[in-house]
Amino acid sequence: MLVKPASDIRESEVTPEKWYARRREFLKVAGSTAVAVAAGAGGSWLDGTATAYAQNPNARKLTGLKKSSFDTTEKQNSYKEITTYNNFYEYGLDKGDPARHAGSLKPSPWKVVVEGQCGKPGTYDIDDILKWFPLEERIYRMRCVEAWSMVIPWVGFPLADFVKRFEPTSKAKFVKFTTLVDLRQMPGQTEPALPWPYVEGLRMDEALNPLALMAVGLYGEVLPNQNGAPIRLVVPWKYGFKGIKSIVRVSFDESQPVNTWQRMQPSEYGFYANVNPAVDHPRWTQASERRIGEFFRRKTLPFNGYADHVASLYAGMDLRKNY
Ligand code: MTE
Repeated sequence: MLVKPASDIRESEVTPEKWYARRREFLKVAGSTAVAVAAGAGGSWLDGTATAYAQNPNARKLTGLKKSSFDTTEKQNSYKEITTYNNFYEYGLDKGDPARHAGSLKPSPWKVVVEGQCGKPGTYDIDDILKWFPLEERIYRMRCVEAWSMVIPWVGFPLADFVKRFEPTSKAKFVKFTTLVDLRQMPGQTEPALPWPYVEGLRMDEALNPLALMAVGLYGEVLPNQNGAPIRLVVPWKYGFKGIKSIVRVSFDESQPVNTWQRMQPSEYGFYANVNPAVDHPRWTQASERRIGEFFRRKTLPFNGYADHVASLYAGMDLRKNY
């Protein structure tokens, strides 16, 4: 696990104290559930070290990847950094917990329910979804609300293509995404660390923006569990919490969904979550960030450097209020 410099935001600052204080208790629960599910998970739950990152249980090369015109040329973070410094509260609150504990997730077989205001609702198998779209690599800068960042070579397909496939009606103004709920596969859900299931949403025009990606892999391989296998959202101009993992439900809605962090702490986390260095989080500055693996902080860019692609989506909106 990486050693955090003192300049990093602590998890106790990001997470309200009442949840943080329960972490020990949570880990105990996670540990005992682990024993119960270990047989199915090949024992990886019992591996109490961060070495679990080395094995991507889903490891399979993704070949024939299209190139993207959206790639950043900035130095990419290492596979180890990307897969051992994670937020996935279904597996614990520490950055190393997902790599240690997400072995119990079974990303196959996997179904995604599509519902709401669309012409083609239904339950779709991930293997079929993967046949519909050519995969491409997208090297994106990612900026977490906790003021750290990484550069990640995702593999996926445009969310816009996925959305259009289901023929949303004119009433579909928002797309809502929901993560799996399964206490055996996601033992952290036995704790009220967050209101489960994890939920996120985008406005329809945001979802149709070509930058928004449905990711199924990274570094040319199928996604490891801790990064949201088998399918997760990647929205590089927004804070990382928009990037909901392990999606099982996509709903086309008339009204704006309430996302998980907004439900938990509405004064701190809004619906839009656009990276905006001019608006500090109530408890820390958003003007700068620490790139994982670097010591010195760097300036945070509006829309995480993607303003040319997305600023027009918000023309006329007060992004201080619509945070
Ligand atoms: N999705 C689910 N289901 N549960 C989570 O706790 N955390 C979010 C997001 N998606 C989270 C989630 C947050 S806060 C961040 S910063 C990103 O996942 C982290 O993605 P990464 O671990 O792949 O870098």
